Amino acid sequence: MSEPTRSERFLRACRGEPVDRPPVWLMRQAGRYLPEYRAVRAGVSFLEACQDVDRAVELSLQPLRLVGTEAVILFSDIFIPVVGMGVDLEFRPGPVIAQPIRTLADVEKLAVSDPRASVPYVFEILRRLRSELEAEEVPLLGFAGAPFTLAAYLVEGKGSKDFAALKRLMYCEPAVLHALLERLTEMTVEYLNAQIEAGAQAVQLFDTWAGLLSAADYREWVLPTHQAIARRLKRAAAPLILYVNGGAHVLDAMAESGADVLSLDWRVELADAARRVGRRVALQGNLDPCALAAPPARIAAWVRELRDAGRAARGHVLNLGHGCLPETPVAGVRAFTDAVRALT
Ligand code: CP3
Repeated sequence: MSEPTRSERFLRACRGEPVDRPPVWLMRQAGRYLPEYRAVRAGVSFLEACQDVDRAVELSLQPLRLVGTEAVILFSDIFIPVVGMGVDLEFRPGPVIAQPIRTLADVEKLAVSDPRASVPYVFEILRRLRSELEAEEVPLLGFAGAPFTLAAYLVEGKGSKDFAALKRLMYCEPAVLHALLERLTEMTVEYLNAQIEAGAQAVQLFDTWAGLLSAADYREWVLPTHQAIARRLKRAAAPLILYVNGGAHVLDAMAESGADVLSLDWRVELADAARRVGRRVALQGNLDPCALAAPPARIAAWVRELRDAGRAARGHVLNLGHGCLPETPVAGVRAFTDAVRALT
C-alpha cells in the first residue's frame, strides 16, 4: 500500500477503515504556548483575531507548519456563533457573559439567525483554509460547542467549578433549560452544516462540561442533544467527533450518540474504552496535556502505548485528552507528533 495522504489517513481512521498508523493532531493546537501565536495576537483581542480572516487563517495554519500536526482545525472559539445570536460577551481569557440567561424571556431573546449571515467570517476562513490545504491534502476540521457546554456558560455567566446556577435551573426550572438547549441545538446543527458546506472535512463537537452530570442526568439532558445533532448533520461529507471531558462514567451513552469518533480524556483507559464501545465508534485521544512536559523519550513511549491500546478500537486518532495549555512546551508537542510519525 502506498503511503496515504494526511486527509486519507485521518478520514479512514475516523470511519474505522484500515490505516498504516493513527493520524495525529492536538486539541487547542493553536494557542499561547506558541511564541508565533503570541506575536500574531499582539495588540488585538481574541475576539478580533477570530473575526479577522487573514489572522485567523494564519493562526489555524501555524501548528501544521511549526509542530507537525496532521490536521488543521479552524481558529475560532465555541462562543463565536453565540456572538452571532446577539449575546454580549468578552473573553477574559474565558468567555464572560454580560447578562446571564436565567429565564424563558432571556432564552427567547437569543436570535435564531442563519450563521452564514451572522458570522460570515467563519465560513470565509474555512474556504480559504480548504483552498490552501487542498494541494497538500491535509484534512480541515470544523467544530462547535455542544449545547450543554454553551448553556453552562450562558447560565453561569462565566466558567465555574461546579456550575451550580446551571444545575439549579436543571433541577428547579427544567422548562427554561430545555428551551435553551433546544435553541442552541438548532443553532449548532445549522452552524456545523454551514461549516461542512464551506469545506470542513470533519467536525468536532466539544461538550467540555457534560461530564459534571450523573450518568442518569447525562442521558436525560445531554444525550438527546448529541443524537439530534448527529442525525441532522451532513455526515456523508464529514464524520462527527464527540468530545466530553471527564466522561468515563458516560462512555456507554456517548457510544449511543451517533458520533463516528469519541474523543476521550486521559482518565479513561483506551483499551478498556475500546472494549466497552466495541466496533460502534472509533476513538480519539488521550494523553494528558501535562505529560508533554516530560522528556521526548517518555512521550514517545506513551505514544506507542496509546497506539497499541487503540488497536482494539474500530479506529484511532492520536490526540491529547484535553487542549494544549499556555505552559505546554513546544518541544513536547513536537516530540508527540514526531513519535506518531515514527510509529511502525
Ligand atoms: O483547538 C484549536 O486550536 C481551535 C481553537 C479553539 C479555541 N477554543 C481557541 C481559544 C477551540 C476548539 C476552542 C474550544 C473551546 N473554547 C472550548 C471547548 C474545549 C475545551 O478546551 O474545553 C471551551 C470550553 C471554550 C471556551 C473558552 N475560550 C475558554 C474556557 C477560554 C479560556 C481558556 C484559556 O486558554 O485560558 C477561551 C479562550 C480561547 N479559545 C483561547 C484560544 C486559543 C485563548 C485566548 C487567548 O489567546 O487569549
